[in-house]
Amino acid sequence: MRLTLWIDCFISNIMRKSCSFSIFETILQQHSKTVEEFLGAILSASTRNGEITRPARLLAAVRYGVFNGGKRLRPFLLMESAALFNTKSKPAVAVAAALECVHCYSLIHDDLPAMDDDGLRRGKPTVHRAFDEAMAILAGDALLTLAFDILSDEANGLSAEIRSTLVLSLARASGIGGMVGGQALDIAAEKKKLDEREIIMLQLMKTGALLRFACEAGAILANASIDDCARLAEFGKAIGFAFQLTDDLLDVREDTAILGKTAGKDVIAGKATLVALHGVEWISQQLDGLIAEANEILQPYGRKADVLRQAALFISHRRN
Ligand code: IPE
Ligand code: IPE
Ligand code: MG
Ligand code: MG
Ligand code: MG
Repeated sequence: MRLTLWIDCFISNIMRKSCSFSIFETILQQHSKTVEEFLGAILSASTRNGEITRPARLLAAVRYGVFNGGKRLRPFLLMESAALFNTKSKPAVAVAAALECVHCYSLIHDDLPAMDDDGLRRGKPTVHRAFDEAMAILAGDALLTLAFDILSDEANGLSAEIRSTLVLSLARASGIGGMVGGQALDIAAEKKKLDEREIIMLQLMKTGALLRFACEAGAILANASIDDCARLAEFGKAIGFAFQLTDDLLDVREDTAILGKTAGKDVIAGKATLVALHGVEWISQQLDGLIAEANEILQPYGRKADVLRQAALFISHRRN
């Protein structure tokens, strides 16, 4: 492990909240800008080949749900996973943008009155509050569809075979047996107490599946070996679990101003979380274990994977 990273790790263990992630943060910002520019061009008023017209209010709702200050962590993970295998950045940007579309759609729908009924997201009124419920549902639908448009478009520079592998993989990560399935379990769990195994399953699906895809897709688009794709998927699974544990921890620990979304809602809504089941201290121990596991998985890539190691630390120690 590189010295700076070790120091980050040491500091974060004694002062969790003041951990420094300078290299990671710089690259996160760069990737975020690149992906936002890509999405900005696609989410303009101009139609794409085969489209008829783009209704202005729907386009405005979509843009509002995308360009509102997200961390762009999934695009970062995807682009850095691809970079491990020395691939060109252009296809990675497109696939990262497609994934961010699915993520933004999932948040817009997650906040709907029929789901978590949240009024604040990324520090702003949620899409259904700023527009209306119908427009929020449609904005989510449009983003989900757009993701597969971007993935399957030959303009992204990938071979037909890799494009179809990614389409299949994102569909499986997002759908009934992935993120959407996890959301269904999450809502059902408000009325039925889950045990530890069931909560872990729910979390691996609702949040873990897309984060796992982010890391695996980087390897897939770079035409990495089957072993490398599996290794990156394992890394994504470990940090995906850490991500949701932290999300649940932040819900009880932080305030609304820092989170940019309403704090303390999980307890009120009766959400099935491991924080509720085991308490804060247990979560901290799990997070340390998951960071160690993530580092171990990246071991074959040496220092080249340092920025992904920093990402794992950030995921576990972030404040929003
Ligand atoms: C929040 O995800 C929702 C979960 C999956 C738990 P992020 O924390 O990555 O949200 P943004 O994109 O940065 O707003
Ligand atoms: C949302 O989980 C997961 C997805 C959107 C798929 P949460 O409901 O815990 O996310 P937040 O806390 O509202 O961001
Ligand atoms: Mg939810
Ligand atoms: Mg929610
Ligand atoms: Mg949450």
